[in-house]
Amino acid sequence: MSRQTGSAVEQAVDEARRGFTEQFGGEPAGVWTAPGRVNVIGEHTDYNDGFVLPMAIDRACYAAAAPRADRVLRVHAAQLGKTVEISLDELTGPGSADDTRDAADPDMSPLADPAVAGWAAYPVGMAWILQQAGFPVSGADVYLTSTVPVGAGLSSSAALECATGLALAGVSGFDLTKAELARHAQRAENIYAGVPCGPLDQMSSAFGEDGAVLFIDTRSGEVRPQPFDLAAEGALLLVIDTRVSHAHGENGYADRRAACERAAAFLGVPALRDIPLAELPETFAKVAVGLDETTARRVRHVVTEDARVQQFVAILNHEDFSLPPLGHRMMQSHASLRDDYEVSAPELDLAVATAVSAGAHGARMTGGGFGGSAIALVDRDRLDAVQDAVRAAFAEAGYTEPQFFPAVASAGARRTA
Ligand code: GLA
Repeated sequence: MSRQTGSAVEQAVDEARRGFTEQFGGEPAGVWTAPGRVNVIGEHTDYNDGFVLPMAIDRACYAAAAPRADRVLRVHAAQLGKTVEISLDELTGPGSADDTRDAADPDMSPLADPAVAGWAAYPVGMAWILQQAGFPVSGADVYLTSTVPVGAGLSSSAALECATGLALAGVSGFDLTKAELARHAQRAENIYAGVPCGPLDQMSSAFGEDGAVLFIDTRSGEVRPQPFDLAAEGALLLVIDTRVSHAHGENGYADRRAACERAAAFLGVPALRDIPLAELPETFAKVAVGLDETTARRVRHVVTEDARVQQFVAILNHEDFSLPPLGHRMMQSHASLRDDYEVSAPELDLAVATAVSAGAHGARMTGGGFGGSAIALVDRDRLDAVQDAVRAAFAEAGYTEPQFFPAVASAGARRTA
């Protein structure tokens, strides 16, 4: 698969620099970039201490930034045409970065400063969390421009947080390791923006590597990049953005997370990661009787999905590596998310079923679900047939026309100028 072209990055960097100058005047001190992601397999396992296999993509957020002499933070979001301006000394937030409140608690209200609403909670939350963690954040002007589609389940918010975090570190003169960047970005999203996500998106953005998928153990934080050279197999990973986002998704995510935590507590384990696949039948029965059948199905998804990630990685590392068994695991993952975890959507199910009937090796929803994007593992010579079939099926169903682009495994958050 072709790598992220230098010229596309250069073009985005130029645009960020130009935009900065128009918006704030003067030259930025640098440009920092952080990508979106697709998760190849391992969905809704990250907040269960489990395994995930994402890759950073060549769609990214670019932050052109310069330090200021005062304590003001100004952030402009190019795609929204909006600016937020706030004094770093007036960021109150919830109080402490050591806050141990449960971000999955549905009663926990978003904690952003009252002046900071919507999109601005992500970059301002990043400044807040870094300050709380003791980093000397200086006043800054930050111009953000992004090529990650918003609402497509491709982690546009993690890209925004990570690009802002690196830019603030850069202009303030301190370093952040990849692990620190990912951790603080996730906490900014959990605590400041009030979104109870796990570590998947921010770790993908921070640790991304050209031409590799990332095998992540979310309990230990270990990241093992695995070569993922689909071009050598004459194939590619196609993103199918359904362009729908169902409204029940927000509660749905917190509900699923709460169900997993309830089940783990009932089973007496720290997290569902600790249930071995071999114990699934008796565990299912126990949860179905002691809690309820729906929760037992949630547990079954998490336990089988963790196993599928490990199988997928074993196949990737096998010398007789071939695509059909990978596609098969993707199909199993999708069915489990649709039937046991119930986070798919009619548009995602249609995209997956149609892509496979038109010749894809496998396909599945990616990300949190309830809309957003599917991914399909497709031979290059089937690409047109798959896209045409999905487009036609969507038209026939009366759905919004989907968008397609190849997912190119790309480098993670870094300074680009
Ligand atoms: C969203 C969350 C992630 C992860 C996925 C599901 O993308 O932000 O933390 O839970 O859903 O795998």
